[in-house]
Amino acid sequence: MFRAIVVRKDPNDPTGKALSIAVESVGEELLIEADAHSVDIRVDWSTVNYKDALALTGKPIVRKFPLIAGIDFSGKVESSRDPRFTPGQAVVLNGWGAGETHPGGLAQRARVPADWLVALPDSIDPRRAMAIGTAGYTAALCVEVCTQALIRDGIETGAGDVLVTGASGGVGSIAVALLAKVGHRVVAVTGKADQAEWLRSIGAAEVLPRSDFDAPGKPLGKERWAGAVDCVGSHTLVNVCASLRYGATVAATGLAQGMDFPASVAPFILRGISLVGVDSVQCPMPRRKAAWARLARDLSGPILDTIAAREISLQEALGLAPELLAGRVLGRVIVDVNR
Ligand SMILES: NC(=O)c1ccc[n+]([C@@H]2O[C@H](COP(=O)([O-])OP(=O)(O)OC[C@H]3O[C@@H](n4cnc5c(N)ncnc54)[C@H](OP(=O)(O)O)[C@@H]3O)[C@@H](O)[C@H]2O)c1
Repeated sequence: MFRAIVVRKDPNDPTGKALSIAVESVGEELLIEADAHSVDIRVDWSTVNYKDALALTGKPIVRKFPLIAGIDFSGKVESSRDPRFTPGQAVVLNGWGAGETHPGGLAQRARVPADWLVALPDSIDPRRAMAIGTAGYTAALCVEVCTQALIRDGIETGAGDVLVTGASGGVGSIAVALLAKVGHRVVAVTGKADQAEWLRSIGAAEVLPRSDFDAPGKPLGKERWAGAVDCVGSHTLVNVCASLRYGATVAATGLAQGMDFPASVAPFILRGISLVGVDSVQCPMPRRKAAWARLARDLSGPILDTIAAREISLQEALGLAPELLAGRVLGRVIVDVNR
């Protein structure tokens, strides 16, 4: 038996819609069946990403019941019939449907197809991997899009401001740190005015209030940003597009303000800007490995320690979820699945 956060259809709800979400002691029947391509993992750490918070508060993320929640985990291989993995090896899993249609990572054990696992670089142990989590890995994917566009356009690091929205959240804070590390002048947008100093400490050169971005704006604004990472969507993303410099690119990955995109084509057809979507769930393996290599190279240990300063238990993850959805959580929170 092992402990896990399990999402079930509530047996007492006659409509069949209500969910029960709790820490339970469960058996192997909640894992997939072992086969020649599956790997068994002793999970050490998981985390609460935005999507986890949606799942843990009963939003329609989980699509198969009962299911172990958690879109990511890190730990050590216990057994593998696939020759790419050996017992004791440190691995990380992000996405692929874990915690949505496949048993997830908020548990002491996991079994997944070998094709889904990334062997951790030597400098990233399992705890650090979940301090980074899917949020940080997604930030690295966004930074890759953003920096490749800057290189393509011949814009040297520091020659233009790079904007990050939702900057105090998991994706945003790690994007700020990664962009600053390679020399960009990073402008952070936040709703947490009291965290401006903290954002400067992790790499922001300037901090702007969320209220500058989150209301309906003009189709075209002053050209300001050489590049951008947006974690927020809705009016914020529209306003970011309207204020990108000629030819610049925004990497869009989030919907913290909303899923809508009430935009004008003006910045696209008059300034040649690009909006590039970033998905972490089905992202091909070579880009995942490149993202983890960037995190190993560019994310400083002390900065990550301030971003992911909080460790909680499986039970506490349930209480954290509504706080995170309300935008009240700073940086990243790590879940010790064995606590
Ligand atoms: N596409 C993918 O594969 C992928 C992967 C990971 C995450 N995501 C998405 O990326 C987004 C951020 O994820 P996360 O893990 O960083 O979540 P998070 O830690 O909760 O951070 C989200 C941040 O957005 C800001 N925010 C919250 N509510 C807002 C609102 N109403 N208007 C404007 N800003 C608001 C807050 O930052 P400030 O207080 O600093 O403004 C908040 O901390 C989520 O929408 C998530 O679903 C997508």
